[in-house]
Amino acid sequence: MTAKLVVLISGNGSNLQALIDAIRMKVLPAEIVLVVANRTTAFGLERAKQAGIPAGYLLLKPYLDAGRTRVEYDADLAKMLAASKPDWVVLAGWMHILSAAFLKHFPYRVVNLHPALPGKFPGAHAIEEAFAAFQRGEIKQTGCMVHLVPDEAVDAGPVIGVAETPIYRSDTLEMLANRLHQAEHKLLVQSLQRLIVGDDEEDE
Ligand code: GAR
Repeated sequence: MTAKLVVLISGNGSNLQALIDAIRMKVLPAEIVLVVANRTTAFGLERAKQAGIPAGYLLLKPYLDAGRTRVEYDADLAKMLAASKPDWVVLAGWMHILSAAFLKHFPYRVVNLHPALPGKFPGAHAIEEAFAAFQRGEIKQTGCMVHLVPDEAVDAGPVIGVAETPIYRSDTLEMLANRLHQAEHKLLVQSLQRLIVGDDEEDE
């Protein structure tokens, strides 16, 4: 079975690229049917275009400017995705907290990637926070994880995959971020392999 993926992005899209490459190399039995960004400038939209993947964006600001709510935005986002009938919705650097108005349409089918170990440094600045905690002597390593998003909790949910990443005394923030991103690219592909193959085994 080839799983249908919708990938949500906000920025560079290097993890989207890792998925595109893994599919192209036939190591991930999947097809990316749609990429959606919440920023017009997200470079990941260009990556999708280069790969011939349908891509678009939905901005929150016009909703708020018109006196509409995040819940209405989330409901419309869900509609936009539902038309593609995804097996998995992958949050690959999606910097917007999804409400139940979105999640109820894809129960246990939303997967998030986060650059920290389970339970550590939720939010948009996980790498900076881990780096600072290391400097204070509070942690010795960090990592990244892929987890299901069953509810509105931020960067939390049943864990699918974890990779520990060392921090070295000589690291700059940029060096640590690069090491984490490399680990994420592998972990995201491995975690989706696990989910997709697991689905197939249940069907047998
Ligand atoms: C990744 O490091 C991802 O884990 C992080 O955004 C980055 C996106 O990179 N997500 C979060 O922090 C979610 N809380 P990319 O656009 O190059 O794939």
